Amino acid sequence: MLLAASTPRTIGFVILTIVFVGGLVYLFFNIRGAKSEVGSEIELAANRRDDVRDEDLEGKRLDFALGANLVMLTIIGISLPLYWLGEPGRQQGRDKDTARIFTNRGEEIYLEGAQCVTCHGVDGSGGSTSFALTSETGEFIAQVSWQAPALNTVLSRFSEDEVLHTLNYGRNGVMPAWGAPGGGPLTEQQLQEVMFYLRSIQIPAERINEQVEAGLAQAVREHLAVSNGGEVGEVGDEAVSRWLAEARGVRETAHQLAISADASLADPENADDLRWAALDILADGEGLDREAWEQYQKYGALLFANPGTAGSYSCARCHTYGFSFGADEEMTLRVNGRDTPIEGFEDGLTQGGGFFGPNLRGGSTRSQFESAKSHAEFIELGQAVGATYGRGGSGGNGQMPGFGPRVETDTVGPGIDNDLETPYPATLTEEQIDAIVVYERNL
Ligand code: HEC
Ligand code: HEC
Repeated sequence: MLLAASTPRTIGFVILTIVFVGGLVYLFFNIRGAKSEVGSEIELAANRRDDVRDEDLEGKRLDFALGANLVMLTIIGISLPLYWLGEPGRQQGRDKDTARIFTNRGEEIYLEGAQCVTCHGVDGSGGSTSFALTSETGEFIAQVSWQAPALNTVLSRFSEDEVLHTLNYGRNGVMPAWGAPGGGPLTEQQLQEVMFYLRSIQIPAERINEQVEAGLAQAVREHLAVSNGGEVGEVGDEAVSRWLAEARGVRETAHQLAISADASLADPENADDLRWAALDILADGEGLDREAWEQYQKYGALLFANPGTAGSYSCARCHTYGFSFGADEEMTLRVNGRDTPIEGFEDGLTQGGGFFGPNLRGGSTRSQFESAKSHAEFIELGQAVGATYGRGGSGGNGQMPGFGPRVETDTVGPGIDNDLETPYPATLTEEQIDAIVVYERNL
């Protein structure tokens, strides 16, 4: 226990122990010594003669001096170790104070200084902003409402360094640059304070799952309404649940197929191998009923373009031009009345056609990721700053988020323990990521 305690505390304990043990030993020998002295001098030694009498020497002054010494000794002997004992607590207390002050200042910047709240919503719950869409040459095209992702899950997607990159440079002209490197108004310390605030508003796994499922249910409802030729309002909850259960059942079928090919995969210890074997089957549709396979891919497509919570859980907001400002399939934007569709948007909304993130169509993910497994792992981890991925993935700025759980290893600023709930929870489950991988590999 002593070893586990922090150094100042250990030293405090050691000093305190030495003082007490030393005190006891002293007392013991003193008392014994005093006893053996009693009556030891029967005759007065020759060199000893009467001097000042004891009564005169041992007066009030001596009592006072001895008393004062005792008090001083007590203070030094007890309060010093006690002070050491309290030291770690004091340090922690100060760290906590700093964290609280930074968090409060960050909140003030979020609400007033930079007004992040007007676009990203209260407590970072997601929102939108009005945006003038312009052509590459700066001509006005249309006024659109552009979704701003939720920030109460942002640390599940990105490391703090990666968030800082977006804060410094902004994104796509719609998220302003806040940091000095991008010409923004906030100082480095203010950005650190914003980060403390962001840490304090991250939401737990259950709420994330609820939000993902709610967005998904909305997407399924719209899909069923379109395919049945009816109204969205006419699609009941039960129909939505049934459709989802069917889609998820396809993955179960793939598990069974994988186990019948290799019985050892049924062993719970081989759960990972089973996942990857089933994912290979799902990616190629081998041995699956065609219609079921297509429904599974549609399920992946709906997750890819999950409309819930300002599109925060979607892939489409970065990989589909127009998704974030609600461009629909029929919407064709033309520059200044001229008959020129703006670049990248010639055919309206092309899912996975590329925007902030690269084009994923035309089997490009198959050539980037040799196996469905490495593809899924990339989506779980995201792209780290400067790291390469796949067959030729660039070392970018880490702007492809990770959708699996995220352990915080880089903290921006003093990085004080702020009751961080790390690892930050995953935003998509393995099962959901698998469906998206299958969709992407067949785009
Ligand atoms: C004028 C509106 C607006 C303001 C103000 C604003 N943002 Fe943004 N922010 C956006 C939009 C829109 C996006 C998404 C950009 C896109 O779709 O490419 C975004 C993206 C982000 C992202 C990337 C998140 C992700 O998951 O991709 C972060 C982080 C962020 N903003 C933080 C902030 C912070 C912190 C502030 C305040 C200091 C702030 N924003 C102020 C509009 C805004
Ligand atoms: C915040 C924006 C953003 C979101 C959201 C996003 N991506 Fe990406 N994605 C990127 C960027 C940027 C890259 C390029 C990274 C690089 O080159 O360093 C990328 C790269 C990729 C690649 C590699 C493509 C290639 O050929 O190199 C795949 C696959 C991918 N993303 C899939 C997804 C999936 C699946 C989702 C949703 C679960 C998703 N992305 C969500 C921004 C995003």
